[in-house]
Amino acid sequence: MKLRKGVILAGGLGTRLLPLTKITNKHLLPVFDRPMVYFPLQMLVAAGITEVLLVTGGNTAGDFLRLLENGEEFGCSLRYAYQRGEGGIAAALKLAREFAAGDPLAVLLGDNLYENGIAAAAEDFRRQSEGGRILLKEVADPQRFGVPVMEGGRLLRIEEKPAQPASRYAVTGCYFYDAGVFEKIDRCRPSARQELEITDVNNLYLQEGRLEASFVAGWWGDAGTFDSLRRLSNLVAEQGAAARNAAPAGGDGSH
Ligand code: G1P
Repeated sequence: MKLRKGVILAGGLGTRLLPLTKITNKHLLPVFDRPMVYFPLQMLVAAGITEVLLVTGGNTAGDFLRLLENGEEFGCSLRYAYQRGEGGIAAALKLAREFAAGDPLAVLLGDNLYENGIAAAAEDFRRQSEGGRILLKEVADPQRFGVPVMEGGRLLRIEEKPAQPASRYAVTGCYFYDAGVFEKIDRCRPSARQELEITDVNNLYLQEGRLEASFVAGWWGDAGTFDSLRRLSNLVAEQGAAARNAAPAGGDGSH
């Protein structure tokens, strides 16, 4: 599949980072020397994805425009969508339907950082003729994330924040989808936390036998809590420009 469009999801209330997020959006907070949202943007561009839609909401949405302008400085063409209220990741992605216009998409949660970027996984997806692709990473605290249930290396289903995780892997915040994703979102219903879950979308792909997985090489994290924000800031500070530019270093395994 051709892949040149990407969506950055940068909404949400960031309540786990209060009071840092009381008057600004989580994705505008610094990760060492730059605003968090620079990373997903740079990772997309480094993966050859240069048509980007940023979805955000709340009363500081205009700050993204002032910061990122039209994307030229980052080597991409940047557009914006405004999400009213809080509906979850899949609800935010739904706003990208017109932008996608039938093309495949890379979707990146705005607080996810990958040491080696997402270029290798994007190449894996480009080799697919249809379906979706998720990125898995072994973590110490899988219960915080979407967790894959696997059997003999085969993906059976994904459980969202399970109390007793069936594996040590997290479904990280980068997803690749063909044009069928919007019809799948339409079939989702709000979860117990009243959100349209991206995990439900991924499970629909799995039920059709059309979800592939790549494994993340190098460190990965989401900057949603004080501890993870500090950890990522330290990693970026220690590793210098290479990690900060999220250069495509290859090395993501795939199955
Ligand atoms: C979301 C997804 C979860 C995924 C995580 C990655 O969690 O629901 O499946 O593992 O992002 O960052 P949330 O940010 O909503 O807690």
